[in-house]
Amino acid sequence: MNKTLGLYLHIPFCRSKCAYCDFYSVIDDSLSERYADALILHMEDYSNAVKNHYFDTLYMGGGTPTSLKKKTLLDIIDGIYSNFNVLQTAEFTVECNPATADRALLSALYKAGVNRLSIGVQSACDNELRNLTRIHTFDEAVETYQAARKAKFDNISIDLMYGIPEQTERSLALSLQSIVELDPEHISLYGLKIEPNTPFADNADRLLLPDEDTEYRMYETAVQYLELHGYRHYEISNFAKPGRECAHNLRYWMCEEYLGLGASAHSYSGGRRFSFKRDIASYIDALENVGSETEIIDEDYDVLPSERLGEYVMLRLRLAEGIDTVEFERRFGIQFERLFGKYLDVYTENGFMQKRGNSYSLTLKGMYVSNYILSTMLDFDEKAYGAIATGLDK
Ligand SMILES: C[S@@+](CC[C@H](N)C(=O)[O-])C[C@H]1O[C@@H](n2cnc3c(N)ncnc32)[C@H](O)[C@@H]1O
Ligand code: SF4
Repeated sequence: MNKTLGLYLHIPFCRSKCAYCDFYSVIDDSLSERYADALILHMEDYSNAVKNHYFDTLYMGGGTPTSLKKKTLLDIIDGIYSNFNVLQTAEFTVECNPATADRALLSALYKAGVNRLSIGVQSACDNELRNLTRIHTFDEAVETYQAARKAKFDNISIDLMYGIPEQTERSLALSLQSIVELDPEHISLYGLKIEPNTPFADNADRLLLPDEDTEYRMYETAVQYLELHGYRHYEISNFAKPGRECAHNLRYWMCEEYLGLGASAHSYSGGRRFSFKRDIASYIDALENVGSETEIIDEDYDVLPSERLGEYVMLRLRLAEGIDTVEFERRFGIQFERLFGKYLDVYTENGFMQKRGNSYSLTLKGMYVSNYILSTMLDFDEKAYGAIATGLDK
């Protein structure tokens, strides 16, 4: 049977670097055309290995794909279609910063087969956008959104953030209302994370951040507001109108396979996880000198069956559906409750988890502290796990 795969292409260029962001990108675009050619060469290299696969999700992220010149972007898209079997019904998303996309670029993307846009709006309040060092106002973001609609996009996602310096519960409510009025099909809502080695981390003491209780109330009320307005909270940070969940990201959370190409891109394919270094120049070098992919490989390991179990728990619990205990036992040959019972009892009693039918899932409160819950669950009774893991790995 032919397998399906997702494709991720990383575009590591941005017009300006936001002070909170740790995604791999640079503002010097002098290498952008050679990088695009390298990406195309890389797709050619993989075309034979995946010739029996069908791609049903494509995702160009970054960085900011729309910061590339129109021709460069279209060349990369051509490269996808010439090297891979892409299903006619494939979801094809491109990430877009409002300051980088005009109607002509958006129309060209649509004509080239892109059918989903993810626009980084972040907030409807210009003081918060300034605090985030974004290079657009809210009005400009709305113009981009409207230009996308005019370019015929009928599947648009908007990124929003909470926990922004100077943001209040009231200003977040205003942002949510303004976004819901635009009526996008999908909304991602991320809590601001202070990433190490970013200007925000260097100046963390001076940032006027909302306190922790306020931040939790922001998350709680945002989830309630979005659900009330027809957006299903299907993953910790993601909300969709019926049938508009992001199929590509669902691949990640469902432990399905994807190929990621480009500097810093990650792949999960054939039971192996691997990634490429965060370095544009060496990426180009390696691809221009055929046969030296090993030089740009960063991580590369086979996922052992026991690790697969841990990844499954970590990723599936991000989803509102959570973990179906019957499906879990069929997959791993061991009862979910036998393995995690101690945690399930405590977290259920304290309102962080719930059991519905055969499934365990995180409650809203649990989703907010999911990192903590998952780290305790996956660091569980080493002895019991060790014995089971040895069995699984045989
Ligand atoms: C690659 S960017 C999206 C596209 C485009 N580069 C832009 O910023 O408009 C992905 C998203 O990640 C989120 N993000 C990046 N860094 C973050 C951080 N430190 N904390 C929370 N969200 C973050 C932002 O909402 C951003 O829109
Ligand atoms: S948030 Fe987007 S535009 Fe800002 S630096 Fe990160 S990738 Fe670039």
